[in-house]
Amino acid sequence: MSFIANPKRYHEIPYNRCGHSGLKLPALSFGLWNNFGGEDALENQRRMLTRAFDLGITHFDLANNYGPPPGTAERNFGRILKEDFAAYRDELIISTKAGFKMWDGPYGDWGSRKYLISSLDQSLKRMDLDYVDIFYHHRPDPETPLEETMSALDHIVRQGKALYVGISNYNDDQTQQAIRILRKQKTPFIIHQARYSMLDRGIENGLTDTLTDNGIGCIAYVPLAQGLLTNRYLNGIPKDSRAAKDYIPFLNAKDISSDVLQKINCLNDMAKERGQTLAQMALVWVLHQQSVVSALIGASRVSQIEENVKALEHTSFTQDELNKIEEILNS
Ligand SMILES: NC(=O)c1ccc[n+]([C@@H]2O[C@H](COP(=O)([O-])OP(=O)(O)OC[C@H]3O[C@@H](n4cnc5c(N)ncnc54)[C@H](OP(=O)(O)O)[C@@H]3O)[C@@H](O)[C@H]2O)c1
Repeated sequence: MSFIANPKRYHEIPYNRCGHSGLKLPALSFGLWNNFGGEDALENQRRMLTRAFDLGITHFDLANNYGPPPGTAERNFGRILKEDFAAYRDELIISTKAGFKMWDGPYGDWGSRKYLISSLDQSLKRMDLDYVDIFYHHRPDPETPLEETMSALDHIVRQGKALYVGISNYNDDQTQQAIRILRKQKTPFIIHQARYSMLDRGIENGLTDTLTDNGIGCIAYVPLAQGLLTNRYLNGIPKDSRAAKDYIPFLNAKDISSDVLQKINCLNDMAKERGQTLAQMALVWVLHQQSVVSALIGASRVSQIEENVKALEHTSFTQDELNKIEEILNS
C-alpha cells in the first residue's frame, strides 16, 4: 500500500526562511549521502524517508555521486518517490549537485557548462523528475572561469530544470565572487551548503557574515560530524556504524582520536545536564548560528531521525552554556 502521510506533519518542526528568498526550509533537512546506496536495504531507506516526512522534514538532499556506487542514491530515491511520494511532490524540496567526479573523461567532473548541464540531465532521469528545487555546484573549480560555471547554473534555471541554485564548499572569497556574477545575471541564488559543526567551524571566519549580509541562507552539512557528535562512539566503534563500514571511506577509526573522545565525553555530560542527548545539543548549537537556516543531517535508522527532531523542543542556550561549550572545544 502506498504511503499516506501524517496529517499533523506540519505541526512538528519550524520552517525558516532561506536568506531573503521566498523559500522556507525545515530546521532539519535530510541528506542521502550515505545509507542510500547499493549496499543498503531499500526498505530501511523507505522507512527513513517516510518517517522524516511524517515528522515535517520536507527537504531531501542528494548529489549525482551519492551511493556507492555513484548514482545509486538518486536511483533509489527516485523509486521511493514514485512508489510513496507521488502525491506529495509539491510538498518536497529536492536538491541535487554536480562538481565531483561522476564519469570518465574530461566532461564528468568539476565545473564546466558541459558537465553541469549533462549531469543534471542524468540526475533528473535517475530520479524520474522534470525538475529539482535546488541545484548546487558541489565544489569550486580552480580551472573553469567562474563566469562559465555561474552562467551554466543560470541556464539550468531558465531551462526550468531547477527552481533555485546554490553553491557548496566555496570559501568566503569565492562566494563573494559568485554572488557578484549571479546577481548580475538575476539568477535565483539563495543557498550555500557548507560544512559546519562544533568540531568544524571554518565558516565562522567571514563566510557566515557574507551570507547574512547578502541574504543567502546557509544549510549546515555534517552537523553531527558524521556521528562523532552523538553517543555512537562513546564506548568504542559499533559494528554497524559508519566508521566500521569498509565501503564508506569518509570516517575511520583514526578520526576517533583520544582528543576528540575527551571533548565528546565532556559535551555529552553537558547535554545530559540540559536534558538532551549529545546529538540533540549539537544540532541546536548549529542552528544557533545566525545564517544557518537548516541543519542537514544523515541517519542510518528511523530512531536517529526521531531523536534528532526532538532536539527542536529545546533550542535555547544560556550564555553560561555557550561559554562552557567554547571551553570544552578549546581544551
Ligand atoms: N555539500 C557537500 O560537500 C556535502 C558533503 C557531505 C555531506 N553533505 C550532506 O550532508 C548530509 C549529512 O551528512 P552526514 O550523514 O555526514 O551528517 P551527520 O548528521 O553529521 O552524520 C550522520 C550520521 O550520524 C549518526 N547519527 C545521526 N543521528 C544520530 C543519533 N541521534 N544518534 C546516534 N547517531 C546518530 C549516524 O551514523 P551511523 O550511520 O553510524 O548510524 C548517521 O549516519 C549528507 O547526506 C549530504 O546530504 C554534503
